[in-house]
Amino acid sequence: MTRPLPAQIIDSALEGSIVGSFSRIGPLVRSRLPGWEEIPRMDGLTAVITGGTSGIGAAAARKMALLGAKVIIIGRDRKRAEALRKKVRGAIDRDAIEILIGDLSDLEETRRLAHEITSRHASIDVLVHNAGALLTERKATQQGIEMTVAVHLLAPFLLTELLLPLLRNATHPRVITVSSGGMYTQRFKLAELEMTPEAYNGTVAYARAKRAQIVLTEEWQRRHGGERITFHAMHPGWVATPGLDAGLPLFGRMMKPVLRTPAEGADTIVWLAAGGAGSAHGGRFWCDRKPRSPYYIPRTKPSTARALLEGTALYKWCRQRISEGTGRQLQ
Ligand SMILES: NC(=O)c1ccc[n+]([C@@H]2O[C@H](COP(=O)([O-])OP(=O)(O)OC[C@H]3O[C@@H](n4cnc5c(N)ncnc54)[C@H](OP(=O)(O)O)[C@@H]3O)[C@@H](O)[C@H]2O)c1
Repeated sequence: MTRPLPAQIIDSALEGSIVGSFSRIGPLVRSRLPGWEEIPRMDGLTAVITGGTSGIGAAAARKMALLGAKVIIIGRDRKRAEALRKKVRGAIDRDAIEILIGDLSDLEETRRLAHEITSRHASIDVLVHNAGALLTERKATQQGIEMTVAVHLLAPFLLTELLLPLLRNATHPRVITVSSGGMYTQRFKLAELEMTPEAYNGTVAYARAKRAQIVLTEEWQRRHGGERITFHAMHPGWVATPGLDAGLPLFGRMMKPVLRTPAEGADTIVWLAAGGAGSAHGGRFWCDRKPRSPYYIPRTKPSTARALLEGTALYKWCRQRISEGTGRQLQ
């Protein structure tokens, strides 16, 4: 949708300022610009949201349920999941939240979670890869994989692969990955993705995994776009959540007055999930309901030919790393 010139100028000025764009000023201003619509209803749609027990994921789950969707949340904490379910049931008088408990850092658990979904549901309209954390110390998973890469990349990859048959059964299936503006600092380099204990830096590991999510989204779109599935990556902005407090406490304290609420951070996820006007094209990176360039810094931008090669290489690497980790080939 083409917006009036003044609205485009205001939006671009915010984007150029970064702080204006990523802080709560972004949605405060942009939601007043012409073209900011009511999010369409989601009646009859089924959405899966990872990390639906806290922060942005919980806000997205709640909003989708209020809009009429059936929402399957994946998280590790049953108490928090049940609390969300109860809260939503109280608000809409309908049991809209289905809970799946599992740890996405474990590939076998991820496989089990996908199996539980496929055994209970015939189709899925929306899959949101939201679970994530910035880990200050390096940790390895059950399968010996660096945790940041496992949770942000391999679990979404495996879940997507295993849920593709259900996505194909939906009318307008969408896969939405919650990336981060932190990825702007990093150039994608496959060889440096899974950081060794000697080289580990939590912020860098996180930013590289978030950059890789963008590369994977573009690759998924190239591979599966012809099957009507659209793949989107998005940045929620800077959001006041337990995850931000734990991963970047100083940043969280300093930016507190201008942080977004979880609902503001979740807005673009829900808008994409509901098929908001102008969201039909996949393979893009969104913030505040608008596709944004995934590059601010020239050195992080590959040529078009190189980007294609990197996408293919990352896709193959994910398959290979999952097979190595589980001792089983992905079909
Ligand atoms: N907050 C921000 O400013 C910001 C900015 C950019 C991007 N993001 C991204 O937004 C997403 C949500 O973050 P948030 O800020 O809302 O943090 P949060 O409040 O800590 O929520 C993170 C969610 O992910 C789940 N999770 C983490 N590791 C998991 C695992 N191994 N298995 C299953 N679930 C797991 C958590 O489950 P438990 O309840 O079991 O812990 C929780 O539900 C993340 O991908 C984050 O990188 C956040």
